[in-house]
Amino acid sequence: MIQLKNYREIDMIRKSGKVLAECLLSLDEVISEGISTYDIDRIAHEFIVKHHGYPSCLGYCGYPNATCTSVNEVVIHGIPSKKKILKDGDIISVDICVTLDGFVSDSTRTYEVGKVSDEVHKLNVVTRECLYKGIDAARQPHARLSEIGKAVFKHAFTDNGYGVVRDYTGHGVGFSVHEEPEVANFVSPMLPNPRLKPGMVLAIEPMINMGTWKVIDLKDGWTVVTADGKPACHWEHTVAVTENGIEILTEL
Ligand code: MF3
Ligand code: CO
Repeated sequence: MIQLKNYREIDMIRKSGKVLAECLLSLDEVISEGISTYDIDRIAHEFIVKHHGYPSCLGYCGYPNATCTSVNEVVIHGIPSKKKILKDGDIISVDICVTLDGFVSDSTRTYEVGKVSDEVHKLNVVTRECLYKGIDAARQPHARLSEIGKAVFKHAFTDNGYGVVRDYTGHGVGFSVHEEPEVANFVSPMLPNPRLKPGMVLAIEPMINMGTWKVIDLKDGWTVVTADGKPACHWEHTVAVTENGIEILTEL
C-alpha cells in the first residue's frame, strides 16, 4: 500500500530533507584526494546529529554506518572504511537517509575527486540529468509512475548507451526508509503503475553504469559492484507530489 502524506507530514519530511541537502552540500568541501570513506562517513554523521537528526541507514537491516560511500565500480551500498582512501580521478557516491522528528528523507550525490576523465565526468553529468528528467516526467499532468523510469531509461540507455541498473530501484519514503511503491529506472509491465497523486513521496534514484547494466552483490552482504568493473554513478532526490506539482525536498 502506498502511504500518502498530508500537508503537515510533507512539511516534516521537508525539514528532514533540508538537513540532508545541507549535509551533502557540505561534503563538497570535504571530499578530496587523501580522505578515507570512513572519515567522510564520520563527518556526515556528526553533521546530521548536530542538526538533531539521525542517520537512518545506520542500523537499517543491520547496515553498519551512517552513509553508503560507493567508489568507482561500486554502484551502491559501499561500506565506509579507513582503508579506502580517495585518489585523484575517483568518483564517489554518498547516499544518506536522515530521520528528523520521525520523518525520513533520502538523497545521493556523486562527487568527482580532483580531475576525473572526460568519459567518467560525462557519466556523472548524464546520471544527474537522468534524475532531473525523471523528476520532470513526474511533473507532467496525470503522469503515471512509469513515466519516471521511461525518462531515465531513455536518457541513460537510448540516448547515451549506458547500462541502467535493474536489480535496485527507487522507492516510497517518509515514514520509513523504504516504502511502496518501487520507483524503477526502466519500464516493466511487472510493476504497479499508479497515477501520481498528491501525498505521494518518492525517492527517485537513477543508478547508471558506464558499461553493462549487470551488477554483482559482494560477499559482505552489502556492496554492489558493476559486473564488468566499469564505473557507476548514482544521484537521488526525495520528491513530494503536491496539489501544486512536484517539489524536491532534498534540494536547498
Ligand atoms: N539510501 C538507500 C536507498 O536509497 C538505503 C540504504 S539502506 C542501507 O535505498 F542500509 F544500505 F543503508
Ligand atoms: Co533511496
